[in-house]
Amino acid sequence: MATKVFLSTCSDPLDPEDAKISVFDRGFLYGDSVYETMRTAGGHPLELRRHLDRLRRSGDGIGLEIPFSDQQLGDAIARTHAATGNEESYVRLVVTRGSGRVMLDPRHSEDPLLVVIVKPIELPPPEAYERGIAAVIVGITKNLGTSLDPTIKSGNYLNNILALRQAIAAGGDDAIMCNPEGAVSEGATSNVFMVQDGRVLTPSLRTGLLPGITRQAVCELATAAGAPVEETTIMPAQLRAADEVFLTSSVRGIMPVTRLDGQQVGDGHAGPVTRRLHEAYLQYVERAKAEAIALGY
Ligand SMILES: Cc1ncc(COP(=O)(O)O)c(C=O)c1O
Repeated sequence: MATKVFLSTCSDPLDPEDAKISVFDRGFLYGDSVYETMRTAGGHPLELRRHLDRLRRSGDGIGLEIPFSDQQLGDAIARTHAATGNEESYVRLVVTRGSGRVMLDPRHSEDPLLVVIVKPIELPPPEAYERGIAAVIVGITKNLGTSLDPTIKSGNYLNNILALRQAIAAGGDDAIMCNPEGAVSEGATSNVFMVQDGRVLTPSLRTGLLPGITRQAVCELATAAGAPVEETTIMPAQLRAADEVFLTSSVRGIMPVTRLDGQQVGDGHAGPVTRRLHEAYLQYVERAKAEAIALGY
């Protein structure tokens, strides 16, 4: 198992210690970049199409035209994953606005830089999906859509880092953030769902959140199982009173929240609806694996 890095300034994937970028890169200086995080299934990035579409939407959102074709991005991931020799990998694809003079004005940037980091995937152990995690609803809020729009997956994560710091300081493992109106929005690196009397609810996109690829997959799986997810407004008190709460993200999948703001959620273990959805999600990953292998990726 290994970690390899592809840089658009070099032709071949590099060892981590050889992967160096300029200190004048705007991604480093200002977080002036967009990115995607994926996991592979059968050696192929899960939901690559949706991730690339979101990467381009994020680029549009910050006025960064991504000069790499989908084919180039897919090839860069495939070559880097192949160079690691990993069976499955974690993939982080970053496009920065490039280097330039140390000036905020984006017109002073040169060519965008592509960075692909591929490393062994570290999934939480199976018991973590039973035990769940402790989350804290923090005071740091999401930005308004008129500020740095939460639907953009930019490299500027300071808000979420501050949220996570608050959650950790309060004894939690993860943070849940609200929008400026006080409605529950999303986790620091995940989307939020709750179960109440058998109904599955998640904050609507209007709340101001990243439209997660896993969120979408969970909504599709729930619809296929005959219990569509309701996209709505959720206030913190409702989340605290939920029977079940879980977070979704590309790497962790469906992670139960079994303590919220220091209180037990449900009976303190993953609840039945969360377990069923987690099982359905694992099967969906297995189907993607089989498909990737059949297609010869
Ligand atoms: C702020 C935020 N929300 C939601 C998610 C989950 O998105 P996805 O399911 O596409 O990984 C992430 C993932 O990194 C995130 O950073």
